[in-house]
Amino acid sequence: MNAPMPKSNALQKRAWKVLPLGVNSNFRFWGDGITPYIQKAKGAYLWDVDGHKYIDYRMAFGPIILGHAWDEVNDKVTSEIEQGILAAMTYELEIEVAEKMVKLCPGLDMVRFACSGTEATMHAIRVARAYIGRERIIKFEGMYHGFQDYTLWSTYAPVEAYGNPRNPIPVPSSSGIPRSLNQMVVTLPFNAPDILERTLKSIGEQVAAIIVEPCMGNCGAILPQKNFLQFIRKQCNKYGIVMILDEVKTGFRIANGGAQEYYRIKPDLTTYAKALANGYPLAAFGGRKEIMSIIGHGVAQGGTFTNNKPGVAAAWATLTILQREPVIKTIETLGRRLMGGIGKIFEEQGIPYCMNGYPAMFSYAIGVEEVSDQRSWNASDKEHYLALAEALMERGVMPDYDPREPWFLCYAHGEKEIDDTLTIFREAVKTVKR
Ligand SMILES: Cc1ncc(COP(=O)(O)O)c(C=O)c1O
Repeated sequence: MNAPMPKSNALQKRAWKVLPLGVNSNFRFWGDGITPYIQKAKGAYLWDVDGHKYIDYRMAFGPIILGHAWDEVNDKVTSEIEQGILAAMTYELEIEVAEKMVKLCPGLDMVRFACSGTEATMHAIRVARAYIGRERIIKFEGMYHGFQDYTLWSTYAPVEAYGNPRNPIPVPSSSGIPRSLNQMVVTLPFNAPDILERTLKSIGEQVAAIIVEPCMGNCGAILPQKNFLQFIRKQCNKYGIVMILDEVKTGFRIANGGAQEYYRIKPDLTTYAKALANGYPLAAFGGRKEIMSIIGHGVAQGGTFTNNKPGVAAAWATLTILQREPVIKTIETLGRRLMGGIGKIFEEQGIPYCMNGYPAMFSYAIGVEEVSDQRSWNASDKEHYLALAEALMERGVMPDYDPREPWFLCYAHGEKEIDDTLTIFREAVKTVKR
C-alpha cells in the first residue's frame, strides 16, 4: 500500500519478536510493511491504527453477518456472561441454540458444538468414519476445511503439482502433515462429475465421506455447476458414503438455512462456524439423528470450550435476529447491486472478468471468462487482482489481499456504502489499468 502506515509498521516490527510473522494466522500476514494492524471495527467499517477508515468487505473472513460489534449481540453476551462463562456443565441456552439450528437447517436433526470450523470438520470426519467403518475421504482441490491434517491437502498448492485431473496427486499444504495421511485422502477437481464417478467406481466402497463446500468459498467463490451437489448426494447414496457439507462459510449467510436450503439438498452431516455467532467463537456440526446418535457410544467428541458462553449467547442473539429480520434478503439485494456495478465497470473498461458466488459472498476472476475449479481459476490474472485490491484499500475499500478470498457483505452495509464502493472501484480500476 502507498498510504503511510507508520503505526502499523511499528506494531508489525514489535509483533515479529513474539508472534511468527507478527500475526496469529498465516492468512493475516500480507507482507512486510503492508499489513494493517487494526484499531477498531463497527458496523460495516474498520479502522486501522494509522487512522485509515475502510468499508470492510472481509468481514473477518465471513463471520460478521450483521455488522461488527453488533449492539444486540454484545448486549446478550454481556448479560449472559454475568451468570458465568464456563461451568463444565450444560446451560439451557445451549439447548435453545441447538433447537434454533435444527429448526433453520433442513439437514439437521441433532448438533454438537465446537470452537472453530477446523474442529467442526475434524469431528464430522471422525463421526463419519465411525459410522460407516471406512477410513478414506474425498475432498476437492482448492477447498479449505480448516487447519486439521486430514483435509489440508491440495488446498493452495501450485496447481501444477496436482498432476492430471483424471488422476490427481494429493499435495499437503504444509510441512508437518504426516505423509502417511495421503493414504486417507483422495483429492479431485470440483465440478467434474465424470472424474468423481470414475473414482468411485474404483474405490467407492473404501470411502467414508465426501466433504465439500457448497461453493469454492476459499477459491474465488466458484459455484457448483448445475446439479453437481445433487450428483455428489446420489453417488454417496449409491456407495453408502457420508456426505459432509462444509457450510462454515455459507451457513447462515446465503440463506437462513444455508446452502442446503438454497440448493434443496440434504447432506448427512454439516459443519458450521463463522456467521453462526456474528464473530464470536462458536462452531457446530450436525446432521441425521442416526449418525449423530453414535456420539457417546464409542465415538469421542468434546472440548473444554465447546459451550463457551460468549459464543453460545452470541449465536442465540444472531439466530434470533436472522429469524426476526430480513437480514439475508437485505444483503442479497445490496450484494446483487454491488456485483452488477463491479461487472459494469469492468465492461466499461474492457477488462475481461467473470463474476462468481452469491451476493452475500462473491468474487471476480480477472482475465478469464469462466472458471469451474481451482485449475481453471489459476489462469486468472492474480497480479491485476492484487494491484486493484491495493488501489481499493488506498481509497478506503477493503477486500481481502488474497484473490481466493471472497468479498463478504453484512446487514450493516447500506446503499451509501455500495455507492461509495462503486465510485471508488471505478477510480481504482482506471488507475490500475493505466
Ligand atoms: C469452508 C471452511 N471450512 C472450515 C474452515 C475453518 O474454520 P476456522 O477458521 O474457524 O477453523 C474455514 C475457514 O475459513 C472454511 O472456510
